[in-house]
Amino acid sequence: MLQRPRRNRKSEAIRQMVQETHVSAANLIFPLFIIDGDNQKTEVASMPGIYRYSIDNLLREIESCLKLGLNAFDLFPNIDEALKDKYATESHREEGLYLRAIREVKKHFPEACVITDVAMDPYSSDGHDGIVENGEILNDETLEVLGKMTLAQAQAGADIIAPSDMMDGRVGHLRTMLDDHGFKHVSIMSYSAKYASAFYGPFRDALNSAPKFGDKKTYQMNPANQQEALIEARFDEAEGADFLMVKPALSYLDVIKLVKDNTQLPVAAYNVSGEYAMLKAAVQRGWLNEQRAVSEVLTSIRRAGATAILTYHAREVLENKWL
Ligand code: PBG
Repeated sequence: MLQRPRRNRKSEAIRQMVQETHVSAANLIFPLFIIDGDNQKTEVASMPGIYRYSIDNLLREIESCLKLGLNAFDLFPNIDEALKDKYATESHREEGLYLRAIREVKKHFPEACVITDVAMDPYSSDGHDGIVENGEILNDETLEVLGKMTLAQAQAGADIIAPSDMMDGRVGHLRTMLDDHGFKHVSIMSYSAKYASAFYGPFRDALNSAPKFGDKKTYQMNPANQQEALIEARFDEAEGADFLMVKPALSYLDVIKLVKDNTQLPVAAYNVSGEYAMLKAAVQRGWLNEQRAVSEVLTSIRRAGATAILTYHAREVLENKWL
């Protein structure tokens, strides 16, 4: 036997020497949930260890993450039901929770990379990502709302805006809006291939943002499709996206790889709430070793081709030195 691949696995030193994929703090983006009030920190029932923070506690959380070398945050607001309406007007109200939070974070931590979410669902009385009329999600009318939301977020200090709505043409529309209003420096991380997934359930619990009727299948992608991801990616790239995202991550590693092989842009992947919940639930029952499972999950997403990973594990992984 001339070939014995096991020789390269015989000691920890050699295994580390030939390791092809690494995950570091710089690759991680931490999603954070915000809620109104003072000194609030409420755990999301289906996401053990993940909380909704009032702005004061959000600042404390971000400060401690920065100390761990975790520098990028994706913020999502839990909006009071009474403030929701058909047109998500709360999303661009100057004194609204979300815009206040962005301003505060950038004021205290200008070095933090703040990523903001562009979609109507947290503010929509219909619980959809776009304007609803007669049970339909209107595309072009929604772009106008997304444009207002984007400008308000850029004004508040967002470094990267991340449209998660899946309306057609939104990247181009938002790029033009930003450029026309003096925000040429603000980046766009587009949710390019976002699937109509069962794995968003816990996130919708966190924000109380589940659709009030129907599902999101007329705008989010069919989980059975792969080539369609390339169509979305190509358009987003042509329309000026700086990052292309695939979401969820674990059931879509093939899509991450495909998108990566067909673009020179950095690819991001969202290790979503349901993926986090599954792993945590098994760990709580003693069925999985958390350190090993989390490290394997993140490594596999990187191996598939993701440069950046949005993950609820980010803080814990760095705190416990699991990488
Ligand atoms: C909605 C949005 C969702 C997530 C991020 N932005 C849920 C949805 O599309 O219903 C899910 C993230 C997660 O599950 O962690 N614009």
